[in-house]
Amino acid sequence: MERFFVAGGYPLRGALHIDGAKNAILPILGASLLVNGPVILHKVPDLSDVHTMCNILQSLGVEIIADKNSFILDTSSLYSHAVPDNLMSEMRSSIFLMGALLGCCGAARVSYPGGCNIGSRPIDLHLMGLRALGAEIEEKHGYIEARAARLVGTEIFLDFPSVGATENIMLAAVKAQGETVIHNAAKEPEIVDLQVFLNAAGANIKGAGTDTLVIEGVRTLHQVEHNVLPDRIVTGTYLLATAITSGEIDLVNTNPAHLVSLIFKGRQMGLDIRYGNDFITVRAPQKLRQVSQIRTSPYPGFPTDLQSPMMVAMTQAEGTGMIIEGIFDGRFNHVKELSKMGAQIKINRRTAVVAGKTPLTSSVVKATDLRAGAALILAGLAADGTTVVEDIHHIDRGYASIEKKLRELGAHIERK
Ligand code: EPZ
Repeated sequence: MERFFVAGGYPLRGALHIDGAKNAILPILGASLLVNGPVILHKVPDLSDVHTMCNILQSLGVEIIADKNSFILDTSSLYSHAVPDNLMSEMRSSIFLMGALLGCCGAARVSYPGGCNIGSRPIDLHLMGLRALGAEIEEKHGYIEARAARLVGTEIFLDFPSVGATENIMLAAVKAQGETVIHNAAKEPEIVDLQVFLNAAGANIKGAGTDTLVIEGVRTLHQVEHNVLPDRIVTGTYLLATAITSGEIDLVNTNPAHLVSLIFKGRQMGLDIRYGNDFITVRAPQKLRQVSQIRTSPYPGFPTDLQSPMMVAMTQAEGTGMIIEGIFDGRFNHVKELSKMGAQIKINRRTAVVAGKTPLTSSVVKATDLRAGAALILAGLAADGTTVVEDIHHIDRGYASIEKKLRELGAHIERK
């Protein structure tokens, strides 16, 4: 199994081009099932989750031509609505194929979603929304079978602004009969990008980015070309890596408006952060000030996907800070690994109290999920000695060539 070897003590310096967003391209690939005609996508990130989603679509009969970061999809030979178990279990986000398959084929067969080890990942809101649109759903022997002779628009209220449930219901509603209103919808930028993609293909969706989505069903979607929006979580991860290594980098082809919470907290830590429409420059002080509290919450709150990288930055700041994980009930798996490196973090249910500044020392640590793995690399960048990060396949799901990009910025990191 490959591992990362990270030597600490080298400040990051230079410029980094941000790729397209994993959490935007995945639902857009699923949405392609709804389109009659070619789908042309640009700025597609080179991630294992994207490869997995493409394998799933190809197993259903979709033809995909990939040329670097541009893909052309042709769904005209789609012949199945049953997602292979082995592929479904690899990635949770395959669950929103249900909405797309119901919308295009009137049927869907998926196994329970796999994905990150970050706590219970229920899908009750997904199933509630699809049933409200008229789908008959049976859960049996680990599979979910859904059928809908006809999908009919309706009003839906989400108990929690679930990103995946919002996307799943959107995809099922695009070609439903009549109007669907989703109340308490997720407002993430990736939902906006999905609306832009679908409307460019002829859908009639309004309200993405607000908590009320209105979808007027249409009969068909036509060919579409789309540029995937930049990855705000990858942007934030490298911004925090710069803070941790007392470096200075320019993040280009990104959207600072999607990271207001992190920019605010970074400035509280003493980072000199400036930005324009599509770039962020970060210059870190020699000493980081501690933030008193980070509370992760639905967008535009502090993103849960940046909680673990932020925790590492807080271990390097002067003083004690607190993190409240407001989204997932099991997203502190990285704490045990950070403690092996000397971090002083106390957990009580969804709250972590982080003591800083704590010198970190190298160790052999395990990536337990995608963002926890990224955080361990960041800890290695700050640690004394060479840290070995294992189970790095988790990291490749969401960070394209992270070791190459970090090396280009001056880090000493090898994949072996
Ligand atoms: C999406 O996951 C992202 N994944 C996650 O990113 C991200 O952390 C999360 O949204 C929150 O922003 C993709 O977009 C592929 P949710 P998702 O449904 O859709 C509860 C990463 O590292 N819930 O918004 O699964 C759930 O338990 C990944 O890139 C229900 O109760 O997140 C959780 O507490 C990790 N019932 C909360 O909502 C449901 O039916 C947030 O989940 C669905 C969710």
